[in-house]
Amino acid sequence: MKNKLVRFGVSLEGELLRRFDAFIGAEGYSNRSKAIADLIRKEFVTDVFAKGGQVAGAVTIVYDHHSREVVNTLLDIQHDHGGIIISAQHVHLDHDNCLEIIAVKGPGAKVKALADALKSVKGVKHSTLSVTSAGR
Ligand code: NI
Repeated sequence: MKNKLVRFGVSLEGELLRRFDAFIGAEGYSNRSKAIADLIRKEFVTDVFAKGGQVAGAVTIVYDHHSREVVNTLLDIQHDHGGIIISAQHVHLDHDNCLEIIAVKGPGAKVKALADALKSVKGVKHSTLSVTSAGR
């Protein structure tokens, strides 16, 4: 029963609805229901992450391949956070740059601590953390 679809009515200002329809159209949604459900889930993920609950995610880092110090520091940090790292993929972007994609799953605070530690390493050019639902 918990996954049964339930219809409900929503009242919005006309201008807000017009902007919402334009927004979700540009995002590729063909109807409002899926768009609204996704927005709700996005807020739930943000809330779970903020409260330190279980999340999944991906950390991406781009760094200078020639700096052995960066490579070693990034590896040390990953070994220190082994409990929340599911896998790591290394891509040789070009002659100078490496891209690493680290899949993580764990408490929000630990995921954030890992992402913060990686991005603050000298020599890391750019880093992102994408947080998503752990599936529950
Ligand atoms: Ni590489």
